[in-house]
Amino acid sequence: MTLSHTASKMPFLNLSAVQYAALKKQADELLSRMTLAEKIGQMSQFTSDRDVTGPSIREGYKNDIREGRVGSVFNAFDADFTRQLQQIAVEESRLGIPLLFGYDVVHGFRTIFPIPLGMASSWHPDVLEEAARIAAKEAAAAGIHWAFAPMVDISRDARWGRVMEGCGEDPLLTSLYAKAQIRGLQGDDIASVETVAACVKHYAGYGAAEAGRDYNTVNLSERVMRSIHLPPFQAAVNAGVAAVMTSFNTVDGVPASCNPLLLDQILRREWQFEGLVVTDYTAIMELIFHGVAADPAEAAQKAVNAGVDMDMQDGYFLDHLEQLVNEHKVTAERIDEAVRRILILKAALGLFEDPYRYCDEAREKATILAPQHLEKARQIARESIVLLKNDGTLPLSGSPGKVAVIGNLVEDKGEWIGPWHGAGRADEVTSFKSALEKRLPLDSIRYSKGTAGENASNADNEQAREEAIQAARQAALVILVVGEREYMSGEAASRTDIRLPEDQRLLAKAVLNTGTPTIMVTLSGRPLVLGDVVDSNEVLPPHVLLHAWWPGTQGAPALVDLLFGDADPSARLPMGFPRHVGQLPLYYAQLPTGRPLDKIDPDPRYSSQYIDSPNTPLFPFGYGLTYTHFEYGTPKLTSTVLSLSSPEDKLILTLTLTNTGQRKGIEVVQLYMRDPVASISRPRRELIDFKRIALDPGEDKEVHFQIKTKQLGYLDQHLQNRVESGCIELFVGPNVEETQQIKFNLID
Ligand code: NOJ
Repeated sequence: MTLSHTASKMPFLNLSAVQYAALKKQADELLSRMTLAEKIGQMSQFTSDRDVTGPSIREGYKNDIREGRVGSVFNAFDADFTRQLQQIAVEESRLGIPLLFGYDVVHGFRTIFPIPLGMASSWHPDVLEEAARIAAKEAAAAGIHWAFAPMVDISRDARWGRVMEGCGEDPLLTSLYAKAQIRGLQGDDIASVETVAACVKHYAGYGAAEAGRDYNTVNLSERVMRSIHLPPFQAAVNAGVAAVMTSFNTVDGVPASCNPLLLDQILRREWQFEGLVVTDYTAIMELIFHGVAADPAEAAQKAVNAGVDMDMQDGYFLDHLEQLVNEHKVTAERIDEAVRRILILKAALGLFEDPYRYCDEAREKATILAPQHLEKARQIARESIVLLKNDGTLPLSGSPGKVAVIGNLVEDKGEWIGPWHGAGRADEVTSFKSALEKRLPLDSIRYSKGTAGENASNADNEQAREEAIQAARQAALVILVVGEREYMSGEAASRTDIRLPEDQRLLAKAVLNTGTPTIMVTLSGRPLVLGDVVDSNEVLPPHVLLHAWWPGTQGAPALVDLLFGDADPSARLPMGFPRHVGQLPLYYAQLPTGRPLDKIDPDPRYSSQYIDSPNTPLFPFGYGLTYTHFEYGTPKLTSTVLSLSSPEDKLILTLTLTNTGQRKGIEVVQLYMRDPVASISRPRRELIDFKRIALDPGEDKEVHFQIKTKQLGYLDQHLQNRVESGCIELFVGPNVEETQQIKFNLID
């Protein structure tokens, strides 16, 4: 690690060089008084028994704290509980070094926002920043110092349960969201008691698990890794992220948690990252299962020497590092470097001045679920719900008459906040039923669950469906809410069948086939395969399809706002929805192949395609409707050439966007590029920019995109960033599949 003290500002925690030097001095002074055992204690992190996010809980962690054998505790929260644990560390351990409390504050702490993939549908980074800021405020008031977020794994295979935690398939979008979340969590002042340290995860390649199976092998070329999967991490480092969490997977055979290329070469040398590296849960122990370490000592040695500073939950550092240092297999300098980083973070958080500054019961009471947090959660959920189909039924106006409200999710609460909901509680969620009853007269609504549950007998489910069919038949309008169950997405929740679960699917088909106009709302943690319900010859199509993801504590009122037009949908998909699971992995930025489907030569029969499905998704990346209509003028460029020699040279793309509908609305104008001839095959589309444009009915606006030479570069086969002369095609439109093309030339 090298630190340039000449720079006045460094990205790490956005500290000035002077501030950093002062923190380092404080850390070094403490370091000089520590025994080797105490240093290793600081490098060890254990879960408390307050929450469970992994396979095992180490017995006696409180005694470990007392003996200076723990530097950080996770899954401990609430002001009173963290205070109790902090007291043990500060008052009973020899040096009284305060603990660092970490927690998975992924989409809210107690006020739960939509799942990250939902928020990513906003195409509005401010939304993720605001959610993260509130999450940080609530978490920090409940004793948390460190959020294990943002999760920025690029995911292109919806079978992987953890797609819900990330921001989808695109590196640019995910990088913008990574920065936004770090700004939200860490704020401008890491020492404030309203901010927490962030931890970008999972470094790296975890989202590319083969066959979408969690924890599975990852095979990525270094070029693909650097071009697609690493940019969001680099963006996080540049945004000053405090910490990086390693991922569980191997990368080209080497587990990420002991991977010198990732941890030393790229993170430390190329990106100059100054913060701390923590493993994921028991990832050092897993080096043995990966087959790269014979025993716990070797696993610890490999991890620490590759650059891991903190061991989450294995206890392997604790049990083996001292001996490894004595045997000269690990240097004392490496230990000091790791401990210094940990102590610097503690110092930056102000824990040495006051170890209890984050456990403040009064602040906790005033902050948690504050009305303005709930209001923000509702606004954000409105921006996250994607309108996929609308025949004009929405927004509802006047009295819709008798409404059948169908589905077990209507009254449910816990399912609406999804996995990784921090300390969020089901009883703090507003149900769809209660939100709807604020807008519709009670006597106009008839409820029906339509399912007896996924484990109920066929007979019971059939009876429940029959009741729903009757309710639908007797109504003028159906609102049908169906979805995946919360346990079906998230960690350790990969699926080979990503259709709606059977009871939900059969219910949807039965209700749709009554022919009563139906607003179908879907909830899930991943893009679902919906074709057999919404695009099938055997089922009447829904009049409306709204995908709500898991929209959080205030998701249901937000949905009601959209249904009645109190708010307008503006979300766009950050991941395409496949037609069939057999298409996965599926992503828009595919390479053209030697036999692209859109070329007539060779014989189209021999194109790269399926014989039983189109190649395209059912709903493409960037897709989403509004309650109005936007017309795109013809795009124009200020020049037909751009100079290669100057990276800052730019041209401007302009087009007129007009709201030709009857309502105001927000259009997300998307700009993609393609380099049709390059030294390596380039993707058929790459998102390079987008703009959210709000227009009143009848209003038009000139939309401008600046295109700079440096945006057009790519990594060649020698991992060199190149921009080559030749034609560049630009595509502009409302989603990746509906674009207008315009070209220019890059010249020497
Ligand atoms: C395992 C998960 O992979 C990671 O995202 C999380 O932060 C840790 N467990 C701690 O809960």
